[in-house]
Amino acid sequence: MPRSLVFSFTSCNIYNSQFIFLISSINHLTIYVKGTYESFRWGILFSHPSDFTPVCTTELARVMNLLPEFKKRNVKVIGLSCDSISSHTEWCKDIKCYGGYNEEYKFPYPIIADNDRALARKLEMMDMDELDPAGIPLTARAVFIVDPNKKFRLSFLYPATTGRNFDEILRVLDSLQLTDKAKVATPVDWKMGDDCMVLPTLPEDQVTKVFPQGVTVVPLPSGKNYLKKTSCPKI
Ligand code: BEZ
Repeated sequence: MPRSLVFSFTSCNIYNSQFIFLISSINHLTIYVKGTYESFRWGILFSHPSDFTPVCTTELARVMNLLPEFKKRNVKVIGLSCDSISSHTEWCKDIKCYGGYNEEYKFPYPIIADNDRALARKLEMMDMDELDPAGIPLTARAVFIVDPNKKFRLSFLYPATTGRNFDEILRVLDSLQLTDKAKVATPVDWKMGDDCMVLPTLPEDQVTKVFPQGVTVVPLPSGKNYLKKTSCPKI
């Protein structure tokens, strides 16, 4: 489980949409953006230290290029950066250019304008080791994944100096969506289609019924038969 977030209600300015409300109780996070996001299924909030910085520009361009992959997985994305809407508007021209789009292309997802880092502080996204010229901690590179039940499912927190791997974020989404539907867990470096692990909590007498395609028990020195592999279930 991700760490808990506890705050009640927040609204903030947002580039490319009207406004956003985030409502959270322990382990539940609702991201509600008026208009397009009213009925989102899965949601990802990803944060950035500030506009017009090199790593952030590459990340936001990558998200733009990956939108068809997020759409396939029924995921809406929303960025956050600690500058104003007018700054985001100018910065998006650079992001589009870096991502290979021309100026006429409409920037395709919203970015929260967290000018005073109030939201980043509330969501515990600060990188205490990276300070801006005024000595204020920068916002870290956080990723929050929220499921269709508004349940907060996963958080990553990267330092400001390390860009994220968005292929890993897609991989994690695939694992979350698969393991919600099938009684499996996904092993190290798993990718969609690879063999999965039978859930160790599944009672022994149900294994054959749940996995008619077969299960391979991997022999181990302990003699315990807890490591059972099965082919990736179709979902
Ligand atoms: C960047 O996005 O390039 C960046 C931002 C803040 C600190 C370090 C790198």
